[in-house]
Amino acid sequence: MNEWWRKAVVYQIYPKSFLDTTGNGVGDLRGIIRKLDYLKDLGVDVLWLTPIYSSPQRDNGYDIRDYFSIQEEYGTMADFEALLNEAHARGLKVIMDIVVNHTSTEHPWFQEARKSKDNPYRDFYIWKDPKDGREPNNWLSKFGGSAWEWDGETGQYYLHLFDVTQADLNWENEQVRRKVYEMMRWWLDKGVDGFRLDVINLISKDPRFPDDDGSVPPGDGRRFYTDGPRVHEFLREMNEEVFSRYEEVMTVGEMSSTTIPHCIQYTNPDNRELDMVFNFHHLKVDYPNGEKWALGEMDVPALKRILSTWQRKMRDGGGWNALFWCNHDQPRVVSRYGDDGRYHRESAKMLATLIHLMQGTPYIYQGEEVGMTNPRFQSIDQYRDVETLNMYRILKEKGMDEAEVMEVIGAKSRDNSRTPMQWDETEHAGFTAGIPWIGVSSNYGEINVEKSLADPKSILYHYKELIRLRKTHDIVTRGDFHPEFPDHPDVFAYTRNTDQETWLIVNNLRDYPVDWIGAESAPFQGQQGELLLTNYPDSPQLNNLFKLRPFESLVYRFIRS
Ligand code: GLC
Repeated sequence: MNEWWRKAVVYQIYPKSFLDTTGNGVGDLRGIIRKLDYLKDLGVDVLWLTPIYSSPQRDNGYDIRDYFSIQEEYGTMADFEALLNEAHARGLKVIMDIVVNHTSTEHPWFQEARKSKDNPYRDFYIWKDPKDGREPNNWLSKFGGSAWEWDGETGQYYLHLFDVTQADLNWENEQVRRKVYEMMRWWLDKGVDGFRLDVINLISKDPRFPDDDGSVPPGDGRRFYTDGPRVHEFLREMNEEVFSRYEEVMTVGEMSSTTIPHCIQYTNPDNRELDMVFNFHHLKVDYPNGEKWALGEMDVPALKRILSTWQRKMRDGGGWNALFWCNHDQPRVVSRYGDDGRYHRESAKMLATLIHLMQGTPYIYQGEEVGMTNPRFQSIDQYRDVETLNMYRILKEKGMDEAEVMEVIGAKSRDNSRTPMQWDETEHAGFTAGIPWIGVSSNYGEINVEKSLADPKSILYHYKELIRLRKTHDIVTRGDFHPEFPDHPDVFAYTRNTDQETWLIVNNLRDYPVDWIGAESAPFQGQQGELLLTNYPDSPQLNNLFKLRPFESLVYRFIRS
């Protein structure tokens, strides 16, 4: 088995906000082609495109109307084929975002299904009779409100775990599964190199559809469909019907609210399910009491504990992690766990080092490599995201005042990561000659690709160096992971180890100086470590190390004698 993806670095492209070549204000496939040399030069191996299929765009493409055609504003199928060829010509792979937990209600299957109870497509979706004149159960949509929508025509409810226009497919129906596998093979036959599978651990629902009694937080019903009863069986079937029939396919599953034992099962190669998984536990350490739509400080000890536990246990169980801070659903990490003002550069580099040198396959989300920040939108009119607009309404209804709502949204909205890519200092950051579909962050004059390329000390070159280290040192892929000073309240330090060497990676997560090790307790005192990477121009020798500067990050290498 060629497990090339264990050594790879993935770059996530949000096509809508990447580069617009037509002037319609929306990024497109030709825009991606234009930047392939830039991406190749950065050193990444794989491009993940968020959904580009035909879609009403209620959820920016995660609401698919036709799995076999390209959204018009992104270009044509010929453009997609050109992109694939151009990428392959440069040795870059391309993976598609597959959304099969649900389709748009504009998908022909749903259009048929809603016609009548005996329509052959009815059973492609999840329909239930009312219970006591109300919704079949109390499950909530991830975007707010009930997860059930009433269909007056046929007198039943359908399930939508996300937006009301995203109807959940019925995976119990073998026909649905066949159609999905067929569609996936169609894309592989076209030459794509793999898939990112959207919320794939939600496809198997508890067939009893019970009410959630709230005894296990958050009590919104998720425990009845997350890592559900038949999910592993379905993924094994998908593997057999699809992935196993092609060479070198890469798969990564997005796992919502999952657990380590499940993720081991999803990714241990013996189980023949997926190659790797995203989990989100490390991105909830700033959710007060698990609540996303509230402001909270990041809990550093919790972050350390979560990352270390996933590292250790996934390794022990033969699983594999996707490593990431940013994606199109998350606020920009430098604004969140770093400092997008005074220590912009230092904190962005520290966070990059911390995540890239753990074990797993790292993902870079467009703009992360130049330290793009949250845009700090001032008014609700600037937001586009369906979840954000729903939450705005819900928070207002709950009585939160406008200023506070805007502050919460400013920190939490998914639009924080969806603003146009900042290419240069020309109008609209070089993203479009038209009016961008969503506003550009006002700091594009300072933070952009062109400036970063011209400055050898930029965040961009730090990312390049991290990628180079991975490519030239096997320890980054294979070495074991060991947390150092696990109880330190501010510093996340760990080692990676092989028989020949140890790498020590030390990161101060605070925006102030902190004491790190005293001479007597330092396990590495007296050893000659080679400094491989740092985020301050003048870095100390290891044996002088007592204080770390704000967000200081150091990587030392020790060769075993
Ligand atoms: C995933 C996607 C997100 C989308 C949701 C529903 O979490 O990343 O953008 O809204 O699934 O498809």
